[in-house]
Amino acid sequence: MPTERLSESEPRTDMALLSSHIWRISRRERRVIGLLVIIAALYAVQSIGFLQKAQPTIVQVSLVSKEGIKPEGEAERPVAEVARQVEADHWTLPRNSLNYPYPTTTARENLKNGTYYVTGFALAGFTNQFIAYMHLIYLGIQSERIPVIPPVTPSSHVSNKAGALRFSRVFNISATSNNLRRPVLEWAHIKEYQENASVSVVPQGTDPSVEQLGCWSVRQRNFPTPIWVPIAENVLKVDLSFTRVPPIAFFDENNQGDVHTKFSALASLIMPKYPHPASKGLPLMAKSRLGSSLPPGEHMACFDFLYYVSSGLRRHEFENRWSPAWNSVGTHIRFTDELVMLARGYIQRAMGLEGEIIPPIITLHIRRGDFRNHCKKGMVPPCYIPLQKYHDAIESVRTELLATQNINATRVLVASDERDPEFWKEVLGYGWHYLNHTAERTLERYGEWYPVLIDTTALSIGSGFVGTKSSTFSVLTARRVEDWNGGLTDMVDYFAKD
Ligand SMILES: *[C@@H]1O[C@H](CO)[C@@H](O)[C@H](O)[C@H]1NC(C)=O
Ligand SMILES: *[C@@H]1O[C@H](CO)[C@@H](O)[C@H](O)[C@H]1NC(C)=O
Ligand SMILES: *[C@@H]1O[C@H](CO)[C@@H](O)[C@H](O)[C@H]1NC(C)=O
Ligand SMILES: *[C@@H]1O[C@H](CO)[C@@H](O)[C@H](O)[C@H]1NC(C)=O
Ligand SMILES: *[C@@H]1O[C@H](CO)[C@@H](O)[C@H](O)[C@H]1NC(C)=O
Repeated sequence: MPTERLSESEPRTDMALLSSHIWRISRRERRVIGLLVIIAALYAVQSIGFLQKAQPTIVQVSLVSKEGIKPEGEAERPVAEVARQVEADHWTLPRNSLNYPYPTTTARENLKNGTYYVTGFALAGFTNQFIAYMHLIYLGIQSERIPVIPPVTPSSHVSNKAGALRFSRVFNISATSNNLRRPVLEWAHIKEYQENASVSVVPQGTDPSVEQLGCWSVRQRNFPTPIWVPIAENVLKVDLSFTRVPPIAFFDENNQGDVHTKFSALASLIMPKYPHPASKGLPLMAKSRLGSSLPPGEHMACFDFLYYVSSGLRRHEFENRWSPAWNSVGTHIRFTDELVMLARGYIQRAMGLEGEIIPPIITLHIRRGDFRNHCKKGMVPPCYIPLQKYHDAIESVRTELLATQNINATRVLVASDERDPEFWKEVLGYGWHYLNHTAERTLERYGEWYPVLIDTTALSIGSGFVGTKSSTFSVLTARRVEDWNGGLTDMVDYFAKD
């Protein structure tokens, strides 16, 4: 057998054997082969004609509001081809906004000359960090800079062991970028860092990947220190020194205790090449942990904390339906396909719908925890909103869904931070469903970040939503249900009349 004799040192032997075999073919076999060759040739001629007809023409790409980019006028164009074309648009691919198509040892070496970037950090729970990063992207638009999103860092219910969470593990950054028609980057695109590195190890000054960065601090003026972000510094190996933003940045210039700042003012301070004059000549506020004292960087602008920012009309502005940051950016930050599939699986199991289609559902977020102290005058904690009030709100959302959209949403999915088993018994009494992360072994299977990620994603799937007033988690879920599903929402308020 020729194959048994095959070896790298004698490739010719094999070829010789093969050709000698061909010449041993009988006359009858040759006739059959000849016929096949003619058929193949005829087919080839036809195929070439077909190929010529189907030659690709230039795809026209146009902006379509919420749906992102759609090809125009070429219905028969293969989806994959259009996707490639869209992908080739400069803003979608991180490598088009950087020196290298991969993360480098320091972020600095990857930043393109003539391109400007902005980053900013976040603290507290997952939802609040999301808000700060939504603000970062919005500030990027206002300041003509490419936003660079840091990872989400562990706090409160998530221990340091969970590590830092890449934004793109949760949100579809390329879809966001596509919808905004602008580049959106995360630190992992720019700089090499260990995703699973310990968040509490302070990097040594001798580490070649440690780099200094001059940042702005938006801390209220009656407080001496910047808002330190040690976990982000440890993970990203950056060493931040701080300069306080000038008074024009604050919502109320005259209030030394104001924690709120304005997008337009922050953008003016970091406008590439033409920054507001008030951004110049300011004293250092705090040296970095390793002792450097850099003024605010120009190539990569940086802020300590971007949660309390608004357009200047109202504090906590993102809570309003008209919020510019939500409506131009937040609504375009969708969960990854993987997370949506995962959440759908959880809902199916919770409702006993394995392998079945999930019918329209109403989702419900009941915030308890520290809300126990949200009391009316004269009352003593715990002052939780009775479940009956949520039930009534759900009934009216259900009725309205039926009346206005002919959607019969009979099932309810609840998420809450309450751990008391009595509470969950009451929930079951209303016939509502919930995700049990203990039974699902979510922590063991996916890690500490996932209970909140799966809850957030699952609630966003509702055709209707009822939330708890003043909870940022509820506010964001309501917007997602409204914008993504055309859903109806309501917020239950402890202080509203009974
Ligand atoms: C970027 O500009 C700096 C200063 O002008 C220059 O030293 C450096 O070589 C430039 N880098 C690249 C990649 O062009
Ligand atoms: C992180 O992951 C890498 C590769 O999987 C592994 O070699 C390293 O030990 C891990 N580090 C930590 C701190 O878990
Ligand atoms: C992101 O969205 C695009 C299109 O909207 C989709 O093709 C892609 O699979 C999504 N990626 C992830 C990671 O969800
Ligand atoms: C809605 O669905 C429930 C349960 O399937 C059913 O009992 C009810 O009649 C439906 N209502 C309408 C208006 O279709
Ligand atoms: C969740 O599941 C665990 C384990 O199956 C069970 O012990 C617990 O009672 C469940 N919790 C609720 C609120 O149903």
